[in-house]
Amino acid sequence: MEIKSAEFVISNSLVGKCPTTNLPEYAFIGRSNVGKSSLINMLANNKKLAKTSATPGKTLLINHFIINNEWYLVDLPGYGYAKRSKSEVEKLQTLISSYILNREEMTCLFVLVDSRLEPQKIDLEFIEWLGENGIPFGIIFTKADKSKLSKLKSNISSYLKKLKEQWEELPPYFITSSENRTGREELLNYIEEINKSLHG
Ligand code: GTP
Ligand code: MG
Repeated sequence: MEIKSAEFVISNSLVGKCPTTNLPEYAFIGRSNVGKSSLINMLANNKKLAKTSATPGKTLLINHFIINNEWYLVDLPGYGYAKRSKSEVEKLQTLISSYILNREEMTCLFVLVDSRLEPQKIDLEFIEWLGENGIPFGIIFTKADKSKLSKLKSNISSYLKKLKEQWEELPPYFITSSENRTGREELLNYIEEINKSLHG
C-alpha cells in the first residue's frame, strides 16, 4: 500500500472522545519503550508524526493519525513501566483497557514485543487477556536490527513456541525494524487486506 498522506488528528484520555468517523483503525500496544511510536512513524514515512523518546513513558494518551484519509493508526501508551506511581499505572490501565474493550472501530490490535528478549510475563498475560476478551490481534517483533540474524531467528522461534503453549493457532506475526524499515511492506499489505475485506 502506498502512503499518500499521514496526519495527526487528536489525542485523548477518553475513548468516548475519539473520532466518530467510523473508519477502521489499527492500534499499537506493548511495553513502554518497545517502539510503538517509532513503528507508526516508520509505517507513515514521517519521523515526526508520533512522539518518540529514548526514555520510557513518552506516550500517555490515545493518539489518532489518519492515513490516506481512509483509516487510522492509533498510538497507545505503553504498559509495564516501573517508574510510575500506582495511581498513574491504574489510570493508564483503565485508559488502555477501556479503549481495547469498547472501541468498535479497532479492527486489529498489534502487540509489540522486543525481538531481543525472552517472552516476558507481562506480555504473555496481556495476550492471554486479549484472547479471553476475543480481541483481534497480531504480534509485532520490534528492533530486529539490533540482533544478528541467527539470534533473531532463534528468539522468534522460541517466542512462537511459547505462544503455542497458549494458542492452538498462532496469531499473525511480523518482524520489524523502524531503523531499517524491515517488515513495512508486510504490515501495510496486511492492513490493506483487512481494509479491503471491510469494504466487502
Ligand atoms: P512509550 O511511548 O514510552 O510507551 O514508548 P514507545 O513504545 O512508543 O517507544 P518509542 O517508539 O518512543 O521508542 C523507544 C526507543 O527505542 C527510542 O529511543 C527509539 O529510537 C528506539 N527504537 C524504536 N524502534 C527501534 C528499532 O526498530 N530499532 C532501533 N535500533 N531502535 C528503535
Ligand atoms: Mg510511544
